[in-house]
Parts: sequence; C-alpha cells; structure tokens
Amino acid sequence: MTRTPIIAGNWKMNLLRADVTAYAEALAAAGPSGAQAPDNEVDVVLFPTPVYLGLAATAMPDWVAVGAQDVHAEDGGAYTGDVAAAQIVDAGASWALAGHSERRQYHGESNDDVARKARRALGAGLVPVVCVGETLEQRQQDQTEAILDAQLGAVLEVLAAAGGAGAGAVVAYEPVWAIGTGLSASPEIAASVHGHLRARLNGHQGGLGDSTRILYGGSVNADNCRDLIGRTDIDGFLIGGASLDPASFLRIIRLSTGSGDGS
Ligand code: PGA
Repeated sequence: MTRTPIIAGNWKMNLLRADVTAYAEALAAAGPSGAQAPDNEVDVVLFPTPVYLGLAATAMPDWVAVGAQDVHAEDGGAYTGDVAAAQIVDAGASWALAGHSERRQYHGESNDDVARKARRALGAGLVPVVCVGETLEQRQQDQTEAILDAQLGAVLEVLAAAGGAGAGAVVAYEPVWAIGTGLSASPEIAASVHGHLRARLNGHQGGLGDSTRILYGGSVNADNCRDLIGRTDIDGFLIGGASLDPASFLRIIRLSTGSGDGS
C-alpha cells in the first residue's frame, strides 16, 4: 500500500500574528500551481499555537492543513486554559498532536491521558498524530522498545478505530534526545525503530501497519531529510525548529518529495 507522505511543522510556542500571515504568503507564493510547487502527493500540515489556529486556517493556502499542538481529553467544561476538540475543529483545524514529549514532560501526560486525547480528537473528526519516543537515559538503558511498546500499546485501539482509510491516524516517532538538540537520529536508528513500530502495528488485530503513517521527528532539516525519508518505514516528518522559517520548511518539502533540489 502506498502511504502519502506527511511533512508537518510544529511551531511550538513561537511566532506572532504577523509571522503567521507572512508565512502563509510565502507558502501561497510557492505553489501549488507554480513551477516550484510542492509535490501534490504530500500532506502538508502546520501546528501553530492555539491562539492562531483560526488565523492560520484562514490564511494558509488550501494545500496546507492546520492542526492543534494539543487537545483536551474531555468534551468541554471547567478546564481553564485548555482547548476542546470541537473548538479546534470550529477554528478551522483538522489535525491534532497528542502526547508530544514536551506535553508528557512538562504537563505530566501519561500514556492513558494521551490515548484519551487521541480518542477525543478522532471523535471530533481531527486526524490525531500520536507522538512516542524514548529519552536518552531510556535508550542507554536499553529500554527503547519497552517504552515505545507501552506508549504505542496505549493507543492501538484508537488507531484501530481510525481505520485504514486515507488519513486515519498517524504515529510520530520523536526520540526525546533528538528534539531541539541538532542531533537527529541516524537514518539507521530511525529506520530500525520505525520498522519495530510498524511490526507492532501489524501485530494488532486487523493489522494497522500498512495504512498507518509513521513520521520521524527530532532535528530534521534540509541536510538530513532526504536520507531519512529514503527509508522504507519513514513516511514523513514532524519538524520543530526548521519549520519556523517558511523557506526552510518549503526546502524540506521539496527535498523530501523529490519535487526539486530544495532551492
Ligand atoms: P525539532 O523538534 O525539529 O526542533 O527537533 C521536533 C518536535 O519536537 O516536534
């Protein structure tokens, strides 16, 4: 089965209103009809901070989807500062991250919390991107597979509910030691972990591995993206730092989809 690649940018707590507008203009100028257009066979998604979800959804060209960096596990109610899935949809977004390592680390999100968030996102019609990944200490102690199995195991039912069709749900492998460090996982390490995740997905009732896209994230840039995406089980990227500048993000899209030399 061919899986459409995804190139996603996670802006985290960066950029202001004017930056979002300028970013949208830069992407609009680049495609999709011009000679420099990103390949059509790619899903491009940006995850802005929640206050700019509506702005980004309106300003971005229609080949760019918008998603939330987090989603609350409940439908609504007395949860000060949080954002419900229905509100994310209402703002014009169509994707949501669940369980980014910064949420797990700074907000104490457990595997169970992440599963509940992903389920809520899916129920509202959002495409959940469930993030998994081990810390450096866990890798050094040879716990990588056990950690990933626990993180993935918690969301298998949600992924199964998303079904195999089209977008469904997405997994992002983001080793914590590679995020924001400039130290990307080597293509060999990433490929081996992605292969493991794919096998686990396939081992689940019904086999989810062929349809579920697995992204790599952690210091992806224009220099390493081609080697990483060349690996069978790597279906795209979740990019932090290198997505903050539209030129850099576009370069990665072009290099990863083979639709240009990135210039
Ligand atoms: P990075 O972040 O590309 O800056 O390492 C990736 C992420 O946290 O999604």
